[in-house]
Amino acid sequence: MLVSTRKMLLDAQKNGYAVPAFNIHNLETIQVVVETACEMRSPVILAATPSTVKYAGVEFLYEMAKAATGKYDIPIALHLDHHESIEDIKKAIDMGYKSVMIDASHHEFANNIEIVKSIVDYAHRFDVTVEAELGKLGGQEDDLVVDEKDAMYTNPDQAIEFVEKTGIDSLAVAIGTAHGLYKSEPKLDFDRLGEIRKKVSIPLVLHGASGVPFECVQKTIDLGITKVNIATELKIPFAQAIKEFFDENPNESDPRKYLIPAKNAMKNVVMDKITMCKSSNRV
Ligand code: 13P
Repeated sequence: MLVSTRKMLLDAQKNGYAVPAFNIHNLETIQVVVETACEMRSPVILAATPSTVKYAGVEFLYEMAKAATGKYDIPIALHLDHHESIEDIKKAIDMGYKSVMIDASHHEFANNIEIVKSIVDYAHRFDVTVEAELGKLGGQEDDLVVDEKDAMYTNPDQAIEFVEKTGIDSLAVAIGTAHGLYKSEPKLDFDRLGEIRKKVSIPLVLHGASGVPFECVQKTIDLGITKVNIATELKIPFAQAIKEFFDENPNESDPRKYLIPAKNAMKNVVMDKITMCKSSNRV
């Protein structure tokens, strides 16, 4: 059975680790993530952005993730990542999705609260957990591009009000990470994260973890991050392995052959990220 992120994030918070949320796109990427998480005995979150849902289909994603829960005995959550359409979120909840992110972070504070609260009110009727973002991450996720100069860090005082007024289950914070690859090593605002942690008791989420050094992510976990989102760093080795395969085998056309090295390359990254999150041997 697909689960919400409630129990897994509270366990992570209590025990000082983070649950990795891997962005998946299709059958193969789902398979790599759940197989590896099961081998390492880690709870795991399969995250789907709006363009993934558009590409793969909301029903297909749901059924594939559900099939994974029948095969692997670890907690698996299927999570809508960075969704902005209230209609799409409600449709997914009606279908059985148990975890959603409503991203209204581009609206001004009062509007952000109002939009998020409307989703929380709906989702909690079905025991679905809701994540929302306060502040604004730079970089690109799907078609959403935020210029570095428009990025905005989370204000710890606003965070308390945001959490209280919306009733969300987890809060995505902006502390200097960005979506996509970094031009230079990101400088994270650990003090700000510490402040937020002191003021807000619900699980905190780190977006844009690709390219952030292992020790920096672990420091954020020590300071209270309980969910770490990883997308770009999985896509690159997957694509690279396919390119190399075709360089060496230009006449091959069998997906059951050229997707194998791609899955293996992605698996190595998933293993590293589970280790980074300190989430192995937790289930
Ligand atoms: P990256 O692509 O930088 O890993 O970001 C992933 C993310 O935050 C998904 O929500």
